[in-house]
Amino acid sequence: MKAALISLRSISSQWTIKEMKKYFSQVDDINLKEIEVSLGTKGINVLYKGDPLDHYDCIYAKGSFRFADILRTIAESRHKESYMPLDPDSFTIGHDKLLTHIALNRARIPMPDTYIASSLASAKEILDKIPYPIVMKFPKGTQGKGVMFADSFASASSILDALSALKQPFLLQEYIDTGGTDIRAIVIGDKVATAMRRTGAQGETRANLHAGGKGEPTVLDYRSAKLAVETGKAIGAEICAVDILESVKGPLVVEANLSPGLQGITMVTKENVAGKIAKYLGERTTAFLEQGKQKKMSKLVSEAGLVKQGEEHQIITNIDFRSSRMVLPKVITEFSEFSEMEEFIIHVKKGKILIEKYGP
Ligand SMILES: Nc1ncnc2c1ncn2[C@@H]1O[C@H](COP(=O)(O)OP(=O)(O)O)[C@@H](O)[C@H]1O
Ligand SMILES: [Mg+2]
Repeated sequence: MKAALISLRSISSQWTIKEMKKYFSQVDDINLKEIEVSLGTKGINVLYKGDPLDHYDCIYAKGSFRFADILRTIAESRHKESYMPLDPDSFTIGHDKLLTHIALNRARIPMPDTYIASSLASAKEILDKIPYPIVMKFPKGTQGKGVMFADSFASASSILDALSALKQPFLLQEYIDTGGTDIRAIVIGDKVATAMRRTGAQGETRANLHAGGKGEPTVLDYRSAKLAVETGKAIGAEICAVDILESVKGPLVVEANLSPGLQGITMVTKENVAGKIAKYLGERTTAFLEQGKQKKMSKLVSEAGLVKQGEEHQIITNIDFRSSRMVLPKVITEFSEFSEMEEFIIHVKKGKILIEKYGP
């Protein structure tokens, strides 16, 4: 099986490639920054370093929110022919906190109350009504860099004026008091592969490790684990990190991350997260190829007029005779999966021929 990891080539990506080599015969390290995409009536064309991107059995594409559009387009063009753990839509949803919250809301996944406004005046009206403290966020920030804290109307209002002057879109959100801690869970398929509890630096409301937070391994309770897995499904990502705040009302999801850094969580939990991701990709690709084969077979069967007869299939057809040699219909070759590399035993008697693979 042949795989590609399309990424910004971080250390996490290098670790993942190394592990993927245990499950795939070839793993190409594709630099997202060297990809170009063209769209037209003939479809979507993905070029890598100027040439069409090869076909892969598995493509794991990831990058930061700045690359959400190109990642979505690549996925759109390849997700039917290659196994991709992230749906095309997930790239735009998961890299935008508002779209993520809309998806969470649709899936009835609990999250902090969140507000958006279409003008400065209506945002101020919201500020007038909601309890403090609050959190203000850039919809597309990461690593805690776009998260601001306001403990009163006065501070929120002045932050808002600055955001508005910079024409920066923002979300307003209920502040969840967790003593500066949050949970980061790595979701792989239907499971939480590992999780850590992060605690923000002294006086810090953001628990991100990049903002100086410290992590410790933790085992999620059933409810939080279920929420994390459901979050992945809600945004269309089989592999993602989910940030959860443990409130008095129960666990609340604040964010999903499609390209989580693996260094921090690996160090904290001592789990080989890249290895688990690679194993999952290997298993899912095998299943995807098998499913593809079965689909191709049933298409062949219905299109070519093959009819199931007990354990076998039958077709009533003419045979092409070329200077006394018989040429079987193409569908027979495809269906039997015979290839010219193999040897065969041909049993023959008057009125009947049976061809079987020779050897194991
Ligand atoms: N509503 C909130 N209440 C309290 N703390 C929050 C809230 N939202 C975010 N935080 C803190 O800020 C951190 C970063 O927020 P998050 O939404 O995950 O954005 P980022 O993409 O920057 O990681 C969270 O991990 C959490 O510690
Ligand atoms: Mg986060």
